[in-house]
Amino acid sequence: MSRIGIVAEQPGENRVAASPTTVQKIIALGYDVVVEAAAGAHSSFPDDAYRAAGAEIVDTDAAWAADVIAKINAPTDAEIARLRDGQTLIGLLSPALKPDLLAALAARGVTALAMDAVPRISRAQSMDVLSSMANIAGYRAVVEAANEFGRFFTGQVTAAGKVPPAKVLVAGAGVAGLAAIGAASSLGAIVRATDPRPEVADQVKSIGGTYLDVVVPDEAKEVSSDGYAKATSAAYDAAAAQLYSDQAADVDIIITTALIPGRAAPRLITGADVASMKPGSVIVDMAAGQGGNVEGSVAGEKVVTPNGVTILGYTDLAGRLPQQASQLYGTNILNLLALLTPQKDGQLVIDERDVVQRGVTVAQAGAVTWPPPPVQVSAAPAAAPVAVAAGAAAPSAKKGLSRGARTALIAVGIAALFLVCAVAPAPLPQHFLVLTLSVVIGFYVIGKVAHALHTPLMSITNAVSGIIIVGAMTQIVVPNALVQVLAAIAVLLASINIFGGFAVTRRMLAMFQKGDQK
Ligand code: NAI
Repeated sequence: MSRIGIVAEQPGENRVAASPTTVQKIIALGYDVVVEAAAGAHSSFPDDAYRAAGAEIVDTDAAWAADVIAKINAPTDAEIARLRDGQTLIGLLSPALKPDLLAALAARGVTALAMDAVPRISRAQSMDVLSSMANIAGYRAVVEAANEFGRFFTGQVTAAGKVPPAKVLVAGAGVAGLAAIGAASSLGAIVRATDPRPEVADQVKSIGGTYLDVVVPDEAKEVSSDGYAKATSAAYDAAAAQLYSDQAADVDIIITTALIPGRAAPRLITGADVASMKPGSVIVDMAAGQGGNVEGSVAGEKVVTPNGVTILGYTDLAGRLPQQASQLYGTNILNLLALLTPQKDGQLVIDERDVVQRGVTVAQAGAVTWPPPPVQVSAAPAAAPVAVAAGAAAPSAKKGLSRGARTALIAVGIAALFLVCAVAPAPLPQHFLVLTLSVVIGFYVIGKVAHALHTPLMSITNAVSGIIIVGAMTQIVVPNALVQVLAAIAVLLASINIFGGFAVTRRMLAMFQKGDQK
């Protein structure tokens, strides 16, 4: 059984890598957990809560002596010196930006798992720290902006006069951007957002924002193939610059979240744009730590420009909600540990054939193992047609049949249809023809329905199942055992579809209800 050490962070970091709840679940995976004394103090998790969860509270040396060290930030030089051969370190290691750190960890024989290197694929979402932290940070960016802004976000009509709603522009509608749009619109502001990935337009609208399209030819737009953006084209940048200039003169708050992985943050808001904003306006540059989206922002600082615009470049936005951030980070770590402990026996095993496990492993057995082989997963339904239109040489995501095989299959199908129609007694050929046409039409119609409409589509299949039940009930009285058995099976299967459909719909609707409405 391995021992997991939850160590305290350096001053300035309020989060901790595990909450009492996640500690309890880590113990259920078969591990022994030790927590450094007062590690959770800034996240409002007292030592006693960890003790009650089954952990042992230990001093710094004992915590760092554990087999697996879980922490938030990359280790300092002094902390690296504590590590020994064979230990595993889990944390935010920024592998793309810190080659020296990876080399130092490899030199000490440590297996290093970077929580910020989890690939952005559906299966790994429960471990995606960048998403869970960006979600919190986006919300907090709005709270910080509201704190600096000298006015309401929502519009009001009062006896003392009319108050217009604040106008908020969010640049970049990824995880942080969407969280900021949701928070600002729920405070009552008019929210606009822009992003080079056209597929986010629906998401922006669904949480109360207006999507501002940068009008450029389709080829100049960005299509995501791995959940992250690519660098924008010069045509896009020029059109976007005009949009930002127009918006800066109009809005009260700008929140920028634009990020292209592996590059410095793109510069979106120029000094002239900032100068054109009204006094009292606020900008939150969430990318200040990566070079900044806004001219004049300073990482970690609040700057007030001569024309009275406040620019916040805070880089610890998620850590400003430490309890929640620690809970979610701890859950991300727990989910990674669950993946790495398939037998639930407290033994950590890394399966290099798994893209998630390979992706997070950045140093192992004395060698740096970053970068991993690329993971290609399309996050954009629109991606495939554009790639085809552009005549991309890259292999198509869908491996279909060859053209010849498809033609042969269609020919066999048509021949079989004619054979059945010619041989079978009436009225079987008519029914068979109707069934065949329904299958073909159904395939093309349902295949074209957008994912967002799959729930209403399910209601239609429920209606079809209702018709099947009525038809089967009329047949169940036929004095033929085979017909009766088939009719009974039809009633059973269609009922499962109907009741299952209702159960799923109910569950989905419950997700949109607030706690007290449930
Ligand atoms: P993300 O990858 O989910 O979203 C970034 C978005 O920027 C994407 O939608 C992308 O299409 C968009 N984008 C790329 N180039 C653009 C351009 N030229 N114009 C407009 N949009 C563009 O990233 P996520 O997780 O939402 O993070 C956003 C930023 O917030 C990152 O820089 C991240 O480091 C930062 N962050 C800051 C925190 C803080 O405390 N300040 C905490 C967490 C994240």
